[in-house]
Amino acid sequence: MKRALVFFVTAFVALAACQPKKATPNFIQENTQFAANQIDLEFKKMDSLGVILNPRTLHRDGTVRYNKPALWTSGFFPGSLWYLYELTGEERWKQRAEKLTMTIENQQYTTNNHDVGFIIYCSFGNGYRLAHIPEYKQIIINAAKSLSTRFRPQVGCIQSWNVDKGWPSERGWQCPVIIDNMMNLELLFEASKLSGDNTYRDIAIKHADTTMKYHYRKDYSSYHVVDYDSISGAFRNGATAQGFADESAWARGQAWGLYGYTMCYRETKDPRYLEQAKQIAKFMLDHPRLPKDMIPYWDFDCTDIPNTYRDASAASVTSSALYELSTYVEDVISKKYKDTANKILKNLASPSYRAKLGDNFNFILMHSVGSIPHNNEIDVPLNYADYYFLEALVRKKELDKR
Ligand code: GLY
Repeated sequence: MKRALVFFVTAFVALAACQPKKATPNFIQENTQFAANQIDLEFKKMDSLGVILNPRTLHRDGTVRYNKPALWTSGFFPGSLWYLYELTGEERWKQRAEKLTMTIENQQYTTNNHDVGFIIYCSFGNGYRLAHIPEYKQIIINAAKSLSTRFRPQVGCIQSWNVDKGWPSERGWQCPVIIDNMMNLELLFEASKLSGDNTYRDIAIKHADTTMKYHYRKDYSSYHVVDYDSISGAFRNGATAQGFADESAWARGQAWGLYGYTMCYRETKDPRYLEQAKQIAKFMLDHPRLPKDMIPYWDFDCTDIPNTYRDASAASVTSSALYELSTYVEDVISKKYKDTANKILKNLASPSYRAKLGDNFNFILMHSVGSIPHNNEIDVPLNYADYYFLEALVRKKELDKR
């Protein structure tokens, strides 16, 4: 009797061990599926209304703010659709991405601000990379041409904002250049590869060098804005528009710089850019006011810390940049960057930052900050937080295969 019991128990345990385990989808699959489901809801809304929508964030009254093509954020939603195509391989995301991308085609001729880089590279740039659509090539080159009209040789930089009207004119600036502009250089590098014309690449390199010299302080934190003399090209002052103070370290600005110099190293293999990216990473990751979950407050020097807002967008840009940077450095530090990027991404994907399906007006992430000094887009979803979150997932997926 006892032997029979032992036999049955052993057989039961053995059988149970052979049962296929209920598959727990891995982190990338689960987040991809969530993003796809959430954005499917946005397309359901478009279908029911019979319109094409390009979501950006929320208005102060809590309604969704959609992009007009000329807004600096109009390329991120199309770009997110390209990343969903890359992550899922599903044709419907490609079709949706193409449709949204073509709605901003005219921006290739934008010359009145530097954001044409964000707008065209995130949309058409990703589309060309993934789908090789022949017409996209000339659009990317035309956009680089437009951006290049803003290069000021006497300064050695692309001028970010015009100063003839609006609040930039009230600041008394002559040739303001913002750290965000580092992101727009990717378009220039790409256009040189596509056209064989190195003019764009040369401008990008000059801009990166000038920015390295004047935007960065000794501790490798960055000014948001540097204003240059429009005639002599001399440095006038360092300032801020979206940060806490002129001398503070605005979190998203630090992330733009980290991403920008990492990308410049990819494109040039110039070790000065790699060193710059490593030093920026050190400033950010070792900062005593970076919270344990690595989602920064909107400005590292805000005096209200910890009673102020986090910026999920700065975190998603940082995680994406760190994944790339981890591929350019020696093993020990590479592991640190990858582990940190994983940690940021995991925390962004937690219920503290990732919305529930059907909530958050179909955006993926909550808790980003547009501009506190302008009392604009505070503690809201932002489409660029979502875009770099998806880009980070793509990069992680690639790295995890190695
Ligand atoms: N490029 C504008 C921003 O980061 O808010």
